[in-house]
Amino acid sequence: MQQSFDLYFVSSNKHKYLEAKTILDSFGIRLGFLKLSLEEIQSDSIKIIAIKKAKNAFSKCNKSLIIEDDGLFINSLDGFPGPYSSFVFQTIGNKGILNLLDTKRNAKFVSLITYCDKKTIKSFEGKIDGTISKKIKGKGWGYDPIFVPKNSTKTFAEIKNKNELSHRYKALKKFASWYLRK
Ligand code: IMP
Repeated sequence: MQQSFDLYFVSSNKHKYLEAKTILDSFGIRLGFLKLSLEEIQSDSIKIIAIKKAKNAFSKCNKSLIIEDDGLFINSLDGFPGPYSSFVFQTIGNKGILNLLDTKRNAKFVSLITYCDKKTIKSFEGKIDGTISKKIKGKGWGYDPIFVPKNSTKTFAEIKNKNELSHRYKALKKFASWYLRK
């Protein structure tokens, strides 16, 4: 029997989808996956990137959907890598980030979830403060092995409850409360 979904997560990143699915399941929203690599304009504003990307995704699949844009913002580097997080991860990676830092290690992760259907386009933001660890710790994806959320001594890659406190969780919680009343 074919499974039916309420809406789709359009991304090329399965890790993000699996986390988003677990989170939205807990709000009773069934999330499908459409693996699509979307063109991303370069801009200093995550919001501008997100709106363009969501419209582009909707024009390709014509289904109610969400897309997600994230960034890791490091205070002592004036918010770098921010909107360039994906490129920076693919080039210098976690080791490169660690090499750029000294004692000042405060950072935040930001997630912007953008919903798009025929009539509506709307974004929801979630943030989590933390620090960058001194070493790579744990076996998570992306920046998880170097991001230590506030009030923890372990990285996102080492903790079990990332999906109950992450930037993604906070953005999706706001989205779910709007979507369920829509
Ligand atoms: P983008 O929104 O797909 O461009 O993601 C930005 C970058 O941040 C990518 O390199 C992701 O791997 C990374 N990233 C986004 N969210 C997370 C997360 O929850 N954990 C670890 N890395 C993340």
